[in-house]
Amino acid sequence: MSPDFIREALRRVHYPGFSRDIVSFGLVKDITCEPGLTTIQIEVQTADPQVPEQIFRACHAILDPLPDIGHAKVVIDVKAPSAPAVGGDVGKSSIPGVKRVIAIASGKGGVGKSTVAANLAVALAATGARVGLCDCDLYGPSVAQMFGTSERPLANEQDQIIPIQAHGVQLMSMAFLLDGASPVIVRGPMATRYTQQFLRQVAWDHLDYLILDLPPGTGDIQLTIVQTVSVDGAIIVTTPQEVALIDARKAMAMFGKVNVPILGLIENMSWFECDAGKRYYLFGDGGGVREAELHGVTLFGRIPLDVATRERGDSGSPIALLPAAASKVSAAFHQTAAALRATVAP
Ligand SMILES: Nc1ncnc2c1ncn2[C@@H]1O[C@H](COP(=O)(O)OP(=O)(O)O)[C@@H](O)[C@H]1O
Ligand SMILES: [Mg+2]
Repeated sequence: MSPDFIREALRRVHYPGFSRDIVSFGLVKDITCEPGLTTIQIEVQTADPQVPEQIFRACHAILDPLPDIGHAKVVIDVKAPSAPAVGGDVGKSSIPGVKRVIAIASGKGGVGKSTVAANLAVALAATGARVGLCDCDLYGPSVAQMFGTSERPLANEQDQIIPIQAHGVQLMSMAFLLDGASPVIVRGPMATRYTQQFLRQVAWDHLDYLILDLPPGTGDIQLTIVQTVSVDGAIIVTTPQEVALIDARKAMAMFGKVNVPILGLIENMSWFECDAGKRYYLFGDGGGVREAELHGVTLFGRIPLDVATRERGDSGSPIALLPAAASKVSAAFHQTAAALRATVAP
């Protein structure tokens, strides 16, 4: 009996509330096999005592029937979550009124992160979930434009900002609050403080999912965001090109350091299909597929380069508003939303 065999078997143990398993979440730290005794060392970060209990029971349910492993000893090291978790476990958001927080990130700018965030929000809302989208890109906000709104949000009696509603999604953007002030003057620690304050002051109205459109890169602002709110998981957007993949790896490493699970990758601008149906792989073929395999994460979808997607983004009605039958890109976003919902239940 080898540690590898045990590790494979433990892939059948799901993290409570998620369809992802404890091995791919990186919770299994060590496996030792001695004659008559197999020891599994697991580490979880949670404030909810039920999480380690459930993992413990699920591990034994898998391991105990295995022949030749002797006694199975499951040791679970429980750490307190780094961000204050109001609702309890690591999977709960610390933002009042929000069940799940999903960060959309990319190492590199211009790969379509905001396009993906906007369309995913629309497609998730179409599954019946209550969805919010927060544009955290202080220097290049684009969510308001992508939803065709120039409305300014109002504050409630508690001085919280009330999100704007558009296309069935609750929207918030740091740009809403700058009001003419140039983001260029908001720098360094001030930008960090501003971002933190911003994330805590929005009056989200009972969200199943809050999608955070992070700024590109892996610097202080990104770290601040994922440490200020307890993020359930991150989706990395990349093009198939090596230069984008290099930055996507940096983003994955950053989330790893702060214990935010990578839920999966989305490959954008995967190909261009001409009217005759021939596909042109402008940024190379299969980069995202290989990357996902390499890191053992899900590839949620491959989104082609598509004129209508760009046009509809610019004109404020995301392509995912179209029925799946009317657009391959819309269909890809709806599939991705379904896969995300299955991975992280609200
Ligand atoms: N799949 C796509 N097909 C066509 N244009 C796209 C696609 N994805 C993104 N774009 C366009 O590329 C540009 C950059 O996308 P954006 O979502 O703003 O990237 P990011 O947020 O990563 O900087 C935008 O003009 C957008 O409309
Ligand atoms: Mg953007």
